[in-house]
Amino acid sequence: MAAMGLCYEATSLGLGTCMIGTMNQEKLHQAFGIPKERVVRLIITVGYPAKSGEPRRKIRKDLDEVLGYNHW
Ligand SMILES: Cc1cc2nc3c(=O)[nH]c(=O)nc-3n(C[C@H](O)[C@H](O)[C@H](O)COP(=O)(O)O)c2cc1C
Repeated sequence: MAAMGLCYEATSLGLGTCMIGTMNQEKLHQAFGIPKERVVRLIITVGYPAKSGEPRRKIRKDLDEVLGYNHW
């Protein structure tokens, strides 16, 4: 929820974010000087969205395929 809140807040400031949960822990620790005993669970990249160009087209399943109402 904290991560989600951060992303919402960044978006409200005109920024873009991307959550990344799969990473090479060893390389990440080396690159950012993270103490060995710390395990990184999530990276959130933050940046300025491109001013031009269209967002890529997303392929999504219909909501009915992934959503149940009190029953599978
Ligand atoms: C908790 C969390 C972890 C994620 N980890 C990864 C990841 O390791 N690699 C990846 O390609 N996308 C990951 N994603 C998905 C991306 O953040 C992003 O939502 C996805 O690329 C879909 O982008 P789109 O909505 O523009 O299609 C993760 C999303 C969440 C919520």
